[in-house]
Amino acid sequence: WPFMAPYIKAINDLKRERNAVILAHNYQTPEIFHCVGDVGGDSLKLAIEATKVKADVIVQCGVHFMAETSKILNPSKTVLIPDSRAGCSLASSITGEDVRLLRERFPGVPVVAYVNTSADVKAEVDICCTSSNAVQVVESLGSDTVIMLPDQYLAKYVATKTKVKIIAWKGACEVHERFTGDELRSYRAADPDVQIIAHPECPPDVINEADFTGSTAHMIDWVRNNKPKRVVMVTECSMADNVQAELPEINFVKPCNLCPHMKRITLPKILDSLLYMREEIVIDPMIADKARRSVERMVNLKN
Ligand code: 13P
Ligand code: SF4
Repeated sequence: WPFMAPYIKAINDLKRERNAVILAHNYQTPEIFHCVGDVGGDSLKLAIEATKVKADVIVQCGVHFMAETSKILNPSKTVLIPDSRAGCSLASSITGEDVRLLRERFPGVPVVAYVNTSADVKAEVDICCTSSNAVQVVESLGSDTVIMLPDQYLAKYVATKTKVKIIAWKGACEVHERFTGDELRSYRAADPDVQIIAHPECPPDVINEADFTGSTAHMIDWVRNNKPKRVVMVTECSMADNVQAELPEINFVKPCNLCPHMKRITLPKILDSLLYMREEIVIDPMIADKARRSVERMVNLKN
């Protein structure tokens, strides 16, 4: 990426000057993920790493709820997001008020929130989860029924893995809900040996067709461990690009569904973010304190 080299150098220089670290999600483009990111990973890893940051500034290369999670977990740091419009269809599908109404409707039923939610929602729930630990979190509550929000498909997937009865919300990821079982069957028809791995935000007909289902980190581990000849990663496009850089011998079939929110983060915006120290994540301390309980309860769960 030669035309990007000056940006990469300027960002890495400014990072040192500002005493900043860049946390990058697996859906960031390779030049961000590999060339300026200090820590890369799935939502769970980025949350855990945020708690360990000693630097003064965190630049979150991901979406808004991820930057909020970093601020919640490490409130004395300045947390910046290069474009605060980087949202998420799941996070915008539910409000704190919706959670309060759910609690009135299902009194005494514990509420689990996917981290893909706003700080307001996290403040109203009992515990958070990510797609890496959702089953473990649901089972940690010792309840025969649990409300799981906002992703209806993640909730359906978890329900197939546990005896706990799951009450779901109606949200969906606008990237993963676009995949279909037919699309996956056509990859198999073209190559019966192809391996297909999917994210649990996909609809059930997609998951039923997949050889493996897991979070972005679990999908990457699966590819590292199984070294398939050809693999379809049924998730956001940049994942396969990032893993391809590490495992050039694997042939990645790339069904390309882009997350428009993740793609708002670009090298020029990261540079501006560090230059002008914007856009800073600010959360009402009362809400942040309540939200911290839910996120820390998840982070502190023993494996
Ligand atoms: P994970 O990286 O935790 O699997 O999350 C996927 C996702 O859609 C993040 O927005
Ligand atoms: Fe949200 Fe889906 Fe984009 Fe992840 S990929 S940020 S879940 S819209």
